[in-house]
Amino acid sequence: MIHFNSLGRPEKTWVVLKKSRVRNLMSTTLNTEDAVRQRYALAAEAREESLCCPVDYDAKYLKVIPQEVIDRDYGCGDPSKYVSVGETVLDLGSGGGKICFIASQVVGPTGRVIGVDMNDTMLDLARRSQPVVAATVGHDNVTFCKGKIQDMAIDRDKVDEYLKQNPITSEQALQRYEAYLADQRLNSPMIPDNSVDVVVSNCVLNLVDASEKEQLFEEIFRVLKPGGRAVISDIVSDEYVPKHLQDDADLWSGCISGAFQETEFLDAFEFAGFYGISMPILQVQPWQTVEGIEFRSATVIAYKGKEGPCFEHHEAVIYRGPYATVSDDNGHVFERGVRTAVCRKTFKIMTAGPYAGDFIPVEPRVPISGENAEPFECSGGAELRSPKVTKGAGYAATIQAEDNCCGDGDCC
Ligand SMILES: C[S@@+](CC[C@H](N)C(=O)[O-])C[C@H]1O[C@@H](n2cnc3c(N)ncnc32)[C@H](O)[C@@H]1O
Repeated sequence: MIHFNSLGRPEKTWVVLKKSRVRNLMSTTLNTEDAVRQRYALAAEAREESLCCPVDYDAKYLKVIPQEVIDRDYGCGDPSKYVSVGETVLDLGSGGGKICFIASQVVGPTGRVIGVDMNDTMLDLARRSQPVVAATVGHDNVTFCKGKIQDMAIDRDKVDEYLKQNPITSEQALQRYEAYLADQRLNSPMIPDNSVDVVVSNCVLNLVDASEKEQLFEEIFRVLKPGGRAVISDIVSDEYVPKHLQDDADLWSGCISGAFQETEFLDAFEFAGFYGISMPILQVQPWQTVEGIEFRSATVIAYKGKEGPCFEHHEAVIYRGPYATVSDDNGHVFERGVRTAVCRKTFKIMTAGPYAGDFIPVEPRVPISGENAEPFECSGGAELRSPKVTKGAGYAATIQAEDNCCGDGDCC
């Protein structure tokens, strides 16, 4: 039987099997959004100690940030460590704006930072701090938007404005409002498709209702440019969180009971279509333990860009090791030291980004131009690339060692 995901794409059976272990597809009876809104409205006004998880930010970036923002730090990691000069960064659940203000300094005046949060009080804190930071760093490249991170097409500042002008007092008015939202999604999404280099988030994804978590990952994928990446710090659990804990408003809004189980967190990126998924940080010590379940901070990095057609350019990659065999998120298998045939897309993927340094690129002696490239059957598994193919038919050169020194320095 063929299974289809929420985007209508067919899924491999093993994905469906793995998906059956995703606990977060279950819904809680709690109104999680209400619990989160109330908690963070208060936490924006006064520091709430129980929401704070110690994080080692780079002190030089904190100097320019107002103390009231530093005090309302409710993050659990530092995804800003993984952004670069000139990039467009989107921070999900930007709170008081701390990660945006750090990222603003890292990306510099040629980059851009957008923070999204649904909470007016948090947005007020971030927006009033923005000119203070900009005046000190000498550039203003941050925008704070009001929206839900699981639905980033809708700009909720604009919705507020619309509803002021057009209060909904009849079914017809509701129809007009629905048409307005549909138009916003189609013609003027708050965060457009394929527009962001890096999506970051610090301790927020766990707060999104279980029924909307899948849509949240689809949104992260939608807004990223092909080749872009998500860097997400969040709280994860070592065991699945039982329903009675998920129904507890304090535990949910306190970044505990909405947490993904640690494997499930990685699976969520995989199901959304990401590749090169890694977990550079999983804290050894738990942040909190509830009924024997440990909750700790993790940071995950995941890349967008494995979709698209496959073409034959006579390229290969050689996996350097140390593992005997590895496989990627498209099911390709790479044996250590073996010249493995890959399509152009996989060649580019395996020789950059998360895999840079793990594979030796082998390019053909005579390049194949785009218009001459045949489709490549990328069905997974390993196919050897004969050196004869890479070098081309009839290659029979003899080259003396002195004509072709090996490595740097003196020839032997
Ligand atoms: C734990 S705080 C983290 C704030 C910030 N990232 C930091 O490092 O201090 C969670 C923030 O996410 C926001 N938030 C929670 N759920 C959200 C959602 N579904 N859409 C937008 N913002 C959300 C809250 O309003 C709050 O500001």
